[in-house]
Amino acid sequence: MKALVLIGGFGTRLRPVTHELPKQLIPIAGKPMLYHVLDLLPREVDEAVFATGYKAEVIDAYVRAHPPLHLTVTTVSESEPLGTGGGMRNAGDGIGDPFILLNSDVISDADIGGLLAFHRSKGAFGTLLLHEVDDTRPYGVAALNGEDRIERFVEKPEPADAPSHWINAGVAVWSEQVLQAIPQGRPVSFEREVVPGTLPKGVFGFRSTGYWEDAGTPERLLRAQRLLFDDGRGGPGTLPPGSQGLGPVAFGTGVDARGAEFGPYVTLGDRVVVERGAHVENSVLMDGAVVGSGASVEGCLVGPNARLAADGRFVGAVMAATPRT
Ligand code: GDD
Ligand code: MG
Repeated sequence: MKALVLIGGFGTRLRPVTHELPKQLIPIAGKPMLYHVLDLLPREVDEAVFATGYKAEVIDAYVRAHPPLHLTVTTVSESEPLGTGGGMRNAGDGIGDPFILLNSDVISDADIGGLLAFHRSKGAFGTLLLHEVDDTRPYGVAALNGEDRIERFVEKPEPADAPSHWINAGVAVWSEQVLQAIPQGRPVSFEREVVPGTLPKGVFGFRSTGYWEDAGTPERLLRAQRLLFDDGRGGPGTLPPGSQGLGPVAFGTGVDARGAEFGPYVTLGDRVVVERGAHVENSVLMDGAVVGSGASVEGCLVGPNARLAADGRFVGAVMAATPRT
């Protein structure tokens, strides 16, 4: 079985870091968010088709250097962004029936094996994993009947129009035939333009009760990181040699943090330097970032090779080596 993974989009809400790399490669709890998504695939899925666009070549190079375990990866990239539906249509040739559809920016403990079993038991055309949230505005919202069949689906509704609090969690199973319902040759939003029209064919909702977060904004990305660490998915969580404070801290090779202090929930990429007396917590520092001595960093996303001044106080910031807005 194959999984189709949507990896386009500009990651605008994570700029300026996403000027340098696609959001899917931002490491949280020790590895790129994309790889945490792929970790959820059950063993019966042996191939992932990546529908890429923005910075496709960066994704390709990373995947070549770090091939995911148990998965063959092929990529099909778009020269112009085609939207979620357009990306599916463009990359979906020969995807097989059924296939798994994954957004690449969603961190969860989704039980995809259970989702597949449910999909088969319903004889469904499609099945969406659903997660319950208070504020449905940034998401697609589904209304279910007593048999868990989706009767209405509204993408990013105003609160008054939201038919429930159960949202599309960005993990689904679809019949291959859904691709034929996607118009060709132009950008298409799968959620707005295609999903509502498929409901008469039998689309179901599988309610998930585990953890879930869309890591597409700085605050939610750091929350996703905490969820992963708390679930033990951030590695051993020991502190870098010569540092003190509280883990978990996930760190790459060549890190120098002697004399630094950590609070919980930190990822340090390769060759990160945290100088003496600096304090870092609830943050992601990407490859080659440098935190000057005595600086304090909390709730920050720091791009590759960015340098944070000694004794500076950085709270809730997204920073890159070459700041652009
Ligand atoms: N190939 C391709 N082309 N992929 C794209 C494109 C594109 O033009 N635009 C977005 N994507 C990818 C993103 O990388 C992401 O993995 C996924 O499609 C969803 O796009 P987002 O931009 O993150 O959408 P969203 O978060 O506003 O809404 C989606 O996710 C919610 C859950 O997080 C929708 O699927 C909602 O219905 C859902 O509730
Ligand atoms: Mg998203």
